[in-house]
Amino acid sequence: MEIDARDGRSLYRTLAGAVVPRPIGWIATRGPDGDNLAPYSFFNVATPKPPTLAFSAGDTREGLKDTARNAVETGAFTHNVVMADLAAAMNETAATGAIDEFDRAKLTAVDARTVEAPRVGESPVSFECAVVETVDFGASTLVLGQVQYVHIADQVTTDGKLDTDKLDALGRMTGNGYAYTRDRFELERPE
Ligand SMILES: Cc1cc2nc3c(=O)[nH]c(=O)nc-3n(C[C@H](O)[C@H](O)[C@H](O)COP(=O)(O)O)c2cc1C
Repeated sequence: MEIDARDGRSLYRTLAGAVVPRPIGWIATRGPDGDNLAPYSFFNVATPKPPTLAFSAGDTREGLKDTARNAVETGAFTHNVVMADLAAAMNETAATGAIDEFDRAKLTAVDARTVEAPRVGESPVSFECAVVETVDFGASTLVLGQVQYVHIADQVTTDGKLDTDKLDALGRMTGNGYAYTRDRFELERPE
């Protein structure tokens, strides 16, 4: 099977199905009506230096999704790592409509230290980000934020360093599918 995408057809299924697993940006922002939290799996480290995270929000008929709109307006967001035992809570925060996702998912909104946004108290690692750039793609909006401050819970550290083994992060597959990050192996890099 081959797909010629030059005619502008949607590649959503192919991208979401083949670029897997994707990390889940659990993005918290502050809006005019309160705090907002939602998962975004078109998300990644854009570059480690300067430390920058990126997520993209598909625009709706009404315009920007709340997360993107809030990030643009406040210049801030936090990303909160979704560990496996937060999966159900993360899913609750994907609901649409004017709801308080922190309340709905029974999560604690904690004020960030350096930016105008909340973070998820239950998440083991939170990154506070200042928006440095937004790119309008017409149908979606890419938001880039430079990391200002990081919170790492003791439960995911060993000898004072982040321990990925303890993080138990979730990945997103396609549709309603998710992946654990528990089945791993190592390869030594060639000289
Ligand atoms: C695991 C997961 C990943 C998602 N990733 C994205 C994404 O990358 N971009 C997007 O626009 N919506 C994504 N969504 C849908 C949004 O979370 C959903 O539209 C949410 O209501 C947006 O909330 P907001 O309007 O408060 O920003 C995802 C949903 C789930 C469950």
